[in-house]
Amino acid sequence: MNAAAAVLCGLGTWLPPQAVTNDDLARELDTSDDWIRSRTGIGTRFVAAPTVATSDLAVEAGRRALKSAGRDAVDGVVLATTTPDRPCPATAPLVAARLGLGTVAAFDVGAVCTGFLYALATGAGLIAAGTVGSVLVIGADTYSRILDPADRSTRAIFGDGAGAVVLRSGGATEPGALGSAVLGSDGTGSELITVRSGGSREPLQMSGTSGMGTGTGGPADPYFRMAGKAVFRSAVERMADAALTAARRAGWTTDDIDRLVAHQANLRILHAVADRMRLPRHRCPVHLDQVGNTAAASIPLALAHAVATGTLAPGHRTVLTAFGGGLTWGSCTLRWPALTPA
Ligand code: UT7
Repeated sequence: MNAAAAVLCGLGTWLPPQAVTNDDLARELDTSDDWIRSRTGIGTRFVAAPTVATSDLAVEAGRRALKSAGRDAVDGVVLATTTPDRPCPATAPLVAARLGLGTVAAFDVGAVCTGFLYALATGAGLIAAGTVGSVLVIGADTYSRILDPADRSTRAIFGDGAGAVVLRSGGATEPGALGSAVLGSDGTGSELITVRSGGSREPLQMSGTSGMGTGTGGPADPYFRMAGKAVFRSAVERMADAALTAARRAGWTTDDIDRLVAHQANLRILHAVADRMRLPRHRCPVHLDQVGNTAAASIPLALAHAVATGTLAPGHRTVLTAFGGGLTWGSCTLRWPALTPA
């Protein structure tokens, strides 16, 4: 028997209600609306209230994805996140329980901003193996918790949010069937995007009266750090090349690609990816102007926005592509199905 294809059949999203504009940031940091717009394309991002954690965002998006799919049950939950509620346990089992899904398989996937694509490929693999017949794949992040309040380069970019899709077992030629995923990593670049302290390499410890240190005796850095310029170049090359490989595997030329839904990191990156692929820029939907870079939530949020604005329509030959810390990257294809995002 042929392995079952994973068919995307539901899409849901959630953003916390508090919007933070560039002008809001400029009142706190040495930055300006003009700099942020011209260097990143971002106008607004959303920030979760102090009492709201990643599982809260994930549950909201997951509930909406199930509604969009017309289901109240699935056989598993795969949650992509860099900002789990706690270092232990994984956040997905809690999300599954809160969604009333019972004792289904549930675990987290960590691939930073590529997390959603890694989770999607994992969910599709579980379906192909016959382990589950359906799975809820969620990307959710609360970066506002790990950003250095004084770091204008990361505060300008990242926002909180969640997006989720439902995958079900189906046929490879159905609308929504995922093509084989292209995934890659380069751990020699692990320092380029990192939260240095708080793991087993540099555990956080209170050091006497001087505050937080690490188990290795040095000062702690519990914040997310990104070497923007180096990451920029890699992001363009890896996202474009992965997307072209995924398209080729689907039997598509660049001309065949109706929509390239790319991780929303920076408008200049989106343009450079399209240009490198020789794809007209208008085929690459933009959502970061409204939500910033929402990490693992970025692609499902961009998909929902593209559907809502009529940019993405049933039948469109669609390529998803992402890049993130690790370094990691990934891409996958599908013909966009008829569905109503919730
Ligand atoms: O999601 C995972 C993947 N992430 C990405 O792909 C992000 C990739 N990188 C980027 O998007 C860009 O590199 C950034 C938006 C982070 C930075 O833009 P850039 O054009 O690469 O600027 P830069 O880092 O080279 O910094 C140029 C200048 C610096 O000042 P000096 O050293 O030249 O005096 C920065 O301090 O811009 C300064 N700067 C800012 N100025 C005003 C950085 N952030 C800001 C800011 N407002 N928010």
